[in-house]
Amino acid sequence: REKPGEESRTETLRWAAKFFHQTLQGSEGKTASVYLGTERGLSEKTIRSFGLGYAPESWEHLFNAAKRSAIPQEHLVDLGLITHNKQRNSWYDTFRNRVIFPVFSVGGQVVGFGGRTLGNDPHAPKYLNSPESALFEKSKLLYGLHAAKNEIRRMESAILVEGYMDVLALHQAGITNAVASCGTSLTRYQAKILQRYTRRVLFIYDADPAGLKSMITGIETLLAEGITPFVVMLPSGDDPDSFIRREGREKFLQFTEAEKLQFLEFQIRFFSESGDFEQPEEKSRSIRSMVHTIALIPDRIQQELYLQELAEKLSISHSALLELLGKQLEAEG
Ligand code: CTP
Ligand code: MN
Ligand code: MN
Ligand code: MN
Ligand code: MN
Repeated sequence: REKPGEESRTETLRWAAKFFHQTLQGSEGKTASVYLGTERGLSEKTIRSFGLGYAPESWEHLFNAAKRSAIPQEHLVDLGLITHNKQRNSWYDTFRNRVIFPVFSVGGQVVGFGGRTLGNDPHAPKYLNSPESALFEKSKLLYGLHAAKNEIRRMESAILVEGYMDVLALHQAGITNAVASCGTSLTRYQAKILQRYTRRVLFIYDADPAGLKSMITGIETLLAEGITPFVVMLPSGDDPDSFIRREGREKFLQFTEAEKLQFLEFQIRFFSESGDFEQPEEKSRSIRSMVHTIALIPDRIQQELYLQELAEKLSISHSALLELLGKQLEAEG
């Protein structure tokens, strides 16, 4: 499956992951390891099993270590581990003063890195990721899948979260069927991957406007792949990591069980809380959007059942919804 040259790239990625991890364990990694342990609540075991690391605040720390280890510079360039400075015609480390999250393939090979800043430069992005390459296509990866896949199969369901820290917090709490889309929008490709492992997905994105909106569209992406989505809305401002860190594992399990909404219930609640049911015009638009969602379900019987449910919950005639569904299906061919 590997293209020529990829095998040695993989070796360089493994080397870099080890470099970052060892730097975290060493004296230079002191601040970062205190941050991860004290501020983020990660255990030694979690740090080790997910291979977390640290990129020091230096312009050529990795570059120099690579030279000592006879790593071809070309690899570092291709993998985006070093970046070119045009003015000085020199190379510098891409990741600096960042906590490093190696990203793994399903098989557990390192394919790239995410780095969270530890500095307080408001212009530096909070997260920086390896550039896209044949080995690292963010839209085709789910963070944590290598560690979650068996549990997803066993539980017959997956928990889908936004970020690195959410996956780590859940796995550390023993909730090991969690994976992250790494960013807010779930891609069709990611949904296809999930579908190989389970037909049930519990969305727990951040309880902020971006997270909620992404769940609305993510629902459609999952449904189109034959997955039945459920949603948990955390208390406003929380993400799974912050919730579990504050409330603990038991509360998290209780909360998710009590607040779990089937996707249609979630959409109804989302629209009604956004005030989109108040005027007939807005209500009509919201209903059209929900019928559009139902139209994406490949199974016709399920479509029919969800349509009935929508009719009952919103006191709309079933026949009106059916007509709308028919038109939408026609329009989409
Ligand atoms: N992300 C990214 N690039 C960014 C911001 C976010 O790739 N500039 C991805 C990361 O995978 C991140 C996820 O989106 O983990 C969720 O982002 P966000 O909710 O903003 O970050 P948190 O993971 O909650 O960050 P933290 O708790 O460390 O502050
Ligand atoms: Mn977020
Ligand atoms: Mn759509
Ligand atoms: Mn978050
Ligand atoms: Mn967070």
